[in-house]
Amino acid sequence: ARTQKVETRLADLILSGDVLRRVGEVFEQELERGLQEKPSSLQMENTYVPELPNGTEEGVFLALDLGGTNFRVLLLELKAGELVRQNVKQYHISNALRLGTGDELFNFLADCVQDFLQQLGMEDQEFSLGFTFSFPMKQHSISSGELITWTKSFKCSGLEGVDVAALLERCLQARNLDVTVRVLLNDTTGTLVAGAHMHQNVGIGVILGTGSNGCYMERASRVRHWEAAHDSVRDVCVDVEWGAFGDNGCLDFLKTDFDREVDAGSLLATSFTFEKYIGGKYLGSLLTSALSALARAGLFPAAPTPDALQTAHLSLFEEDNCAGEVSRTLTALSEVCPGATITAQDALVAQHVAHVISNRAAQLVSVCIATLLRRMDRAHVGVAVDGSVFKHHPRIAGLMHKYIALLAPQHSFELLGAEDGSGKGSALTAAIAARLAAQYK
Ligand code: BG6
Ligand code: GLC
Repeated sequence: ARTQKVETRLADLILSGDVLRRVGEVFEQELERGLQEKPSSLQMENTYVPELPNGTEEGVFLALDLGGTNFRVLLLELKAGELVRQNVKQYHISNALRLGTGDELFNFLADCVQDFLQQLGMEDQEFSLGFTFSFPMKQHSISSGELITWTKSFKCSGLEGVDVAALLERCLQARNLDVTVRVLLNDTTGTLVAGAHMHQNVGIGVILGTGSNGCYMERASRVRHWEAAHDSVRDVCVDVEWGAFGDNGCLDFLKTDFDREVDAGSLLATSFTFEKYIGGKYLGSLLTSALSALARAGLFPAAPTPDALQTAHLSLFEEDNCAGEVSRTLTALSEVCPGATITAQDALVAQHVAHVISNRAAQLVSVCIATLLRRMDRAHVGVAVDGSVFKHHPRIAGLMHKYIALLAPQHSFELLGAEDGSGKGSALTAAIAARLAAQYK
C-alpha cells in the first residue's frame, strides 16, 4: 500500500512516450523559430565556428574555462592536430566573486592568468587565447559575444550586454600581458570540437553537468543571424541553449510541484526552466523536494535538511540500487535527516525517487539529442558528451542510449565521452580560427 501511495505522489514525474514525443515537437518548433530569429525560448546562437578540426591544427594557446564546477587556466600546444603539451591549473572562484560585480570577477580571471604565466616563467611571451565561457551569449563573431544572462551559480552585476572577450582582454592588457582573445566559445562547442578531433562523424556536443546544453552543426543557409558575409560557409555550429527551453511557458505541461519548489529556491528563479529538470545543480534539490513531499504525506520518516542532498547523493542512491544494496543510502540518509530513524524500506523509497528523477532527466535530454539527430539526417552521428552528471551518474549514459534510440529509431548514433573537452576544444578552435583567418586574408 505504501508503494502505491508513493507512486501516486510521484506520478507527475513519470513521462510517457506520448508526452516525450510532444516535448520533441515543441522543441523542434522552438528550434526553427530560434534559427529564424522569431520569439522562442531557444536561442540557437550562431557560434561562428564553421569547421571542425582537420588534423592540421598547430600552435601554442592559452585557454580559460569558466562556468562549470572548476575554473581552469590551460596552456596547450598542438602539433599536426595532436596535443603535445598541456599545463593546467585550477583556481577557486569564491561565492563572493560569483555573486559580486562583473569587474571583480574578470579582474580575478586576469590575475589567475598572470599567476599561471608567472609560474611557467612565460609572462613576457605573446599568446592567443581561447575563452570557454559557458553561459548564453549573443555572438557577433568567433571572438566576440555579449553575455545574455547568468545561469547556474553565477550572478555578477553589470555584465549583461557586455562583450566578455573584450573585457577579459582589457583586464589582461592592464596587467601588461600580451594576450589576444582569438575565440570565445561555449563549453558545448569546445566539447564538439574536441570530440570531432578524437572521433570521426561527430556532429553534436552535449554538456550534462552543473547545467545542460547542446550544440550541433547546422546548415549555414538555415541560420538567419549573421554579421558577416557567409557565402562560402556551408555549415556552422549552433549553440542551442536548451537550458532555457520552456522559459516562455511552452513546456508548462511538464512542470510539477517539485519543479516549482526547486525553481523558487534557486539563485535565478523563473529562468532556465529545462535546465532545472536535468542539470546537476538541481537534481539534488529535486530529490529533496520529492522526499519532503513524501514526508509530509507520512510516507517517508523526515524531510531532508534543506540543501543537504546533492546530485552526488542521487548518483550514490542509484549506485546502491544497481548493486541491490542499501547500506550507503542508509548512511547518507541518516546524515541528511538527523534524528530520524531510517529503515531499509525507507532507503529503497529514496532510491526509487532518485531513479524516477534520473530517468526523467535522461528522457528529457534524450528528446533534444534525438531531435537534433533527426534534423541532421546523416548516416551516423557521434555525440560528444561531457559534464559531471554524465561522468558520475551510474545509469545516465545507458538510459540516454535507450531513449535516444527509441525516439530516433532510424538514426545511427554513438555517445562519446569527451572528458575535459572544453579546454582542448578551445585551443583547437583558436587554431581553426587562425587557419581560417589566413585563408581569407
Ligand atoms: C568540463 C568543461 O569538462 O565540463 C567545462 O571543461 C564545462 O567547461 C564542464 O562547463 C561541465 O561540467 P560541470 O559538471 O563541471 O558543470
Ligand atoms: C548553462 C549555460 C550554457 C552551458 C550549460 C552547460 O545552460 O547557459 O551556456 O553550455 O550551462 O555548462
